[in-house]
Amino acid sequence: LFIIHVTPELASVAKVGGLGDMVFGLTRELAIRGNHVEIILPKYASLRYDQIYGLQEIYRDLWVPWYEGAIHCTVYFGFVHGRKCFFIEPHSQDNFFNRPSIYGYHDDVMRYAFFSRAAIEFMWKTNKHPDIIHCHDWQTALVPVYLYEQYQALGMTHPRVCLTIHNFAHQGLVGPELLRATGLHRPERFFSHTQLGDHRYPNTLNILKGGIVYSNFVTTVSPRYAFESKDMGQGFGLEPVLHTHHIKYGGVVNGVDYDIWNPEIDHHIPVQYGIDTLDRKYDNKRALRHRLLLADNEKAIVAFIGRLDPQKGLELVRHAIFYTLERGAQFVLLGSSPDGRINTDFWGLKRMLNDSPDCHLEIGFDEDLSHLIYAGADMILVPSRFEPCGLTQLIAMRYGTIPIVRAVGGLADTVFDKDYSSRPLHERNGYVFNDYDNPGLESALGRAIACYRDYPEHFRELMKNAMRWDYSWNRPGQDYLNIYDYIRES
Ligand code: ADP
Ligand code: GLC
Repeated sequence: LFIIHVTPELASVAKVGGLGDMVFGLTRELAIRGNHVEIILPKYASLRYDQIYGLQEIYRDLWVPWYEGAIHCTVYFGFVHGRKCFFIEPHSQDNFFNRPSIYGYHDDVMRYAFFSRAAIEFMWKTNKHPDIIHCHDWQTALVPVYLYEQYQALGMTHPRVCLTIHNFAHQGLVGPELLRATGLHRPERFFSHTQLGDHRYPNTLNILKGGIVYSNFVTTVSPRYAFESKDMGQGFGLEPVLHTHHIKYGGVVNGVDYDIWNPEIDHHIPVQYGIDTLDRKYDNKRALRHRLLLADNEKAIVAFIGRLDPQKGLELVRHAIFYTLERGAQFVLLGSSPDGRINTDFWGLKRMLNDSPDCHLEIGFDEDLSHLIYAGADMILVPSRFEPCGLTQLIAMRYGTIPIVRAVGGLADTVFDKDYSSRPLHERNGYVFNDYDNPGLESALGRAIACYRDYPEHFRELMKNAMRWDYSWNRPGQDYLNIYDYIRES
């Protein structure tokens, strides 16, 4: 198949969170299986150019309709770890992508509405006829709307569109200016509730909703989150639309790219190890302590890695820090937030705990350090309010680092409690709690710390169970190919 991914993020060149990892991993798996895969991204000023091989201008005069005129774009081509990538650079007064960070601007909706239009205009102008266009999140959810409303009439009939929703919390809400900018005609129709019209706010268009209505198939990143978003009130208002379109909606758990996240070959960590050489994990633990100036003792290390976003359960993370120290273990946190208030809170906490030899909070984004934490910690905490898939628990398991998670979304689909799961013993791989409160958290974290201290052989078995699970892209890769085949025939 010829598959084009249109995406706002791609790991190693433009990553904010797991979306970037997902596209990076899935595109490689699809290519390994013999498909022709291309990726279209904005040419952000913040791209990691050192990760792009052979970057060159390949299309100089792409004019993308916008308001009454058109914006001139240049398209670049380059390889990102073997992946074929096209980067679209608009030369507009608004400097859509020539800005310091990827998201966080008042005109984000218009920036990505433009990018989506530019991506499809580029395919059209260069005579690309992909079998499948795969879009991600609201940022690219207008692609199927343009395709079926504007480009099909021009004769672009071939592609089928799969939209993956990584998070219902962000939907892309915008007023009528979207229609003026993009030239989508007959506005009354678009405002209808069966189309893009947001059902909560008058005179507002909901881009993600449009993506759901117009795509041939919609996935989210775990079956459990598919259920929660449609039937458990976790769809941030989109539940009725998901019901209407339930026939083309499902969940596929993300994979992990084991070329990158694999302790046997990971060169970000000082000592490589595997399931048969588990003792060497403790050299990494020592290195982690050395790097973060933690005391070297017999204590367990509990870690948190993630965006400091309310989604991630920040009250529980905060409580977990104190509880862990009280229970005689160490705590390491690596996280950052674009929200100044949250960062200030965590800086305050950091100053307060600064003198403890058992705790280190690192406020920032540091890929290299994240590898050392996955390898050096004993447990990773993911106490999310909601979690579409979650990659940190999957990565951690590969490193024999035991996940302690709340039973929501992808966390519930991938982590099975050591003591209470109905799974056979050898499939249990972590600790799970249900209630979003301190006692809930303590029930799981307390058991984990106690097992580490009192029953080291049991804990070691648990580590091996976690390492044995195959969370590679092998299975989800096949699942997506099945979806592509299905929509090509329908
Ligand atoms: P989300 O996409 O909601 O942020 P995921 O668990 O799916 O959560 O993916 C998070 C990804 O980002 C993981 O690869 C994780 O290692 C990485 N990550 C998150 N925060 C940081 C950070 N501060 N420094 C380095 N890597 C981070
Ligand atoms: C989103 C979700 C996260 C998921 C990631 C990749 O950012 O918050 O749970 O793992 O996308 O799909």
